[in-house]
Amino acid sequence: MRIIVRDTAVEAAEHAADLVVDSAGGVLGLATGSSPQPLYAALAARVADGSVDFGRTRGFALDEYVGLDPAHPESYHSIIARDVIGPLGFSPSRVFVPAGSGTLDEVDARALDYDAAIAAAGGVDVQILGIGSNGHIGFNEPGSAADSVTRRVDLAPSTIAANSRFFRSAGEVPVQAVTQGISTILRARSIVLVASGAAKARAVRAAVEGPVGESCPASFLRLHDEVTLCLDSAAASQLG
Ligand code: F6R
Repeated sequence: MRIIVRDTAVEAAEHAADLVVDSAGGVLGLATGSSPQPLYAALAARVADGSVDFGRTRGFALDEYVGLDPAHPESYHSIIARDVIGPLGFSPSRVFVPAGSGTLDEVDARALDYDAAIAAAGGVDVQILGIGSNGHIGFNEPGSAADSVTRRVDLAPSTIAANSRFFRSAGEVPVQAVTQGISTILRARSIVLVASGAAKARAVRAAVEGPVGESCPASFLRLHDEVTLCLDSAAASQLG
């Protein structure tokens, strides 16, 4: 695991962008949330100046809420369209987001197909990740197994509380999501995790220095040979 620390999230995102651009034309794994926004902004700037073209790149989002209309502005379908497809110039037909709407049986059946769709695309070249303050990656909350695949999960109360900032109230935040599993994520050829802010410092320390195991799902990244953590100094502040 390589750890890159920069003073600011924007500087850390520039380093992350250097690691992502080589996979333009390949397959990217796409996180949502606030953490990757400086990275997507850095990539969008490179698209705008003509130094990279994502028009033929395929993308697979990490996760989606269950029971939220895909047209809802906070669905990950909407966010991927807004933050990635538009500014980075991906072709919409080449970007896939787990299905979170429909009956639960339909959601479960489509989750089962997601890993096969990633494999059929040739596998993910670079998986972009954030990290939850409880150590989750994707929505693999503490207790998620190393061999987990894409599936429907319950969100932890702390995740619902954290994500309520995107909704009018905590009561509006979906309580379940479909997420790529830990084993899905670890099948990517390389992984770039971006984290910024003091609220992530404890989770970053647990991921890097704590035991590898289900209590901190991000610690499973230490089982992979090609992982880079791009941190601002606040997120890195508890590393020994
Ligand atoms: C998002 C995702 C989550 C977030 C994490 C951090 O697709 O899978 O793991 O990366 O919850 O969220 P932010 O970046 O909003 O702090």
